Parts: sequence; C-alpha cells; structure tokens
Amino acid sequence: MNGVVLELDHAQSADREQFQRAVLAGLSRRPRAIPARFLYDARGSALFDEICKLPEYYLTGTETDILRAHAGEIASFAGPNCALIEFGSGSSVKSRLLLDAMDLAVYAPIDISREHLDGSMARLRRDYPSLAIEPICDDYMALADLPPLPASSRRLGFFPGSSIGNLEPHEAIAFLGKAKQLLGPRGALVLGADLKKDPARLHAAYNDSAGVTAAFTLNLLRRMNRELGATFDLDAFAHEAFYNPVDGRIEIYFRSLAEQSVTVAGRSFAFVEGERVHTEYSYKYDIPQLETLGRTAGLQVTRIWTDPDRLFAVVYLASA
Ligand SMILES: C[S@@+](CC[C@H](N)C(=O)[O-])C[C@H]1O[C@@H](n2cnc3c(N)ncnc32)[C@H](O)[C@@H]1O
Repeated sequence: MNGVVLELDHAQSADREQFQRAVLAGLSRRPRAIPARFLYDARGSALFDEICKLPEYYLTGTETDILRAHAGEIASFAGPNCALIEFGSGSSVKSRLLLDAMDLAVYAPIDISREHLDGSMARLRRDYPSLAIEPICDDYMALADLPPLPASSRRLGFFPGSSIGNLEPHEAIAFLGKAKQLLGPRGALVLGADLKKDPARLHAAYNDSAGVTAAFTLNLLRRMNRELGATFDLDAFAHEAFYNPVDGRIEIYFRSLAEQSVTVAGRSFAFVEGERVHTEYSYKYDIPQLETLGRTAGLQVTRIWTDPDRLFAVVYLASA
C-alpha cells in the first residue's frame, strides 16, 4: 500500500514539474501561450463534463448521436477480439457505446488528468465487471509505446471529442502518425472531428451564456495559484474566444483586464491591459481536409458518418 502511495506522490510531483516548466516557458515567450493539456486538472475535467451538457455546445450531443447510430457498423468494421485504445478518454462516456457494441479483449483509455481518470475507471469497472481495463495516465503526444496488450488482438484507436482540433495541423499529422505506429499494421482509428460551419454557431459554443467555458479557461489560473504558488487575481482576467476564419479555428485566451504583475513559482511576470495568453485552439475541418490530414500521416479514410446538418463527422481511418 505504501509503495502505491509513494508511486502516486512521485507521479504527481513529476506532473507538477512538467506543468511548472511549461508555464514558465509559455509566459516568458511572445506571444504568450500555455499548452491546452494543462487545462485538465480534476476541476478542469469536471468543468469540461459540464461544457458537454450545455445547449450551445452541440459537439457532444451530435457526436454521441452519430456513434449511437453507427456503433454496430464500427464494431463490424473492427471485428472480434479487439483492443480499444482511447486517446483523451475523459469520463469515458462515449466509449461506452463502443464497449456495448464491440467484442473486446481489452479497453485501454489514455488520459493526462490523473484523478479524473481514476474516478472514470472506478465507475467503468463497476459497470463492466468482466471487461479487462488497462488505464494509462500519460500525455498521448509523448507516448513511446503501449503497455503489453493481448498479442492476437487488433488495435482500434478512438479519438473523439474533436480533440484533433486542439492540435495545430502539423501536430495533428504527427499525432495521426504516432497513432498509426501505436496501433500497428492491422490497426484502425475512429476519429471525431467538428466540421466548419456558421461562425455565429461556433462563437456561441465557446462563449456559453452560463459562463462554464469561461470558468474552464480561468480554472488554469486557479491551477497555477494552487500548484505553482502563483498570484493570479481571477477577477482581473477574462476568458476570450473567437472564430478565426482565415485559419479555420476557434482561438481561446485569458486576457488581462488591467496593467498588473503576477508571480509564478517565484518569478514575476508583467501584463499590460488587454494582453492575452493563448490556452487553446479548436480547429474546424471539412471532409477533404480530414482526408488530407489522414493521407499525410499514412492513413486512409474508409468510412465517414455525419449528422443530418453536417455539424460533426466521425471517420474511420485505416493504414493506407
Ligand atoms: C476535449 S476532452 C474529450 C473527452 C472525451 N474523449 C470526450 O469526447 O468527451 C479531452 C480529454 O483529453 C485529455 N487530454 C488532453 N490533452 C491530452 C494529452 N496530451 N494527453 C493525454 N490526454 C489529454 C483531457 O484530460 C480530456 O479528458
């Protein structure tokens, strides 16, 4: 038991060191930016689950409907005795549609948000007592290999939630290349991506009237205060999100509402009024762009499922 506690302490302090390094580097350069994966501490993950329930945030409901309608077809594409590997599993809610439809040897969810992953796995083990579950708490962009999985099983990757949109196109191609390598020659990937649409609809999805998305962005300041001894005044910064039509992406920042100075891990950072720190992109794609991303990474789109309004796409990518 003590060994487990020590291991967890060690993992948590390694997480904190990485966070501190990324924050200090991100605030020291211009334009300032902090990688989006740090938005997901336990509170950030819980807030993301709240975002998924917002009426403006059409992404979750639309993708869930597509998956519910086509889970059987996905299962028959994948075949029996699969290993399902999910990248950024969060609460593993959508995954349940695949768990119910597929004949699985093992489910291996990967997520960087340690406490949230533990909670999701406890619920999953209760609801799927006979399923083999191998959670992996890690950065899927940095993962060199997967732990040993049943050798005979085909690996099906699952990357839902439009998480591909959080990556810049060159990172998305690098991710798809890494997924192809991790999933092996017989592997395939089910990818959920938000499609280009009316900018007003996009704007509303990232500026909800209840302020949950704003709380999600500003939670990063809270996390820096708690974990890095930072002195951010949450009332002196605001969430900012808008659609950039040239680059086809939502851009999200926290913006300083005044000239001020903030200490982070013992270092002082000055902000002028209106200065922004970038926290997240959400790229929007059309189908040909998704096909090009896949092709560049050596993957071929073999099936595309969308909703009647073509808001969202779920695509099945196999090794080209
Ligand atoms: C947009 S949420 C999607 C959650 C869930 N898959 C869904 O579709 O609702 C992104 C999830 O990926 C995780 N995540 C973000 N960046 C990650 C990274 N680089 N490595 C591992 N997990 C990451 C977050 O902790 C979060 O749970």
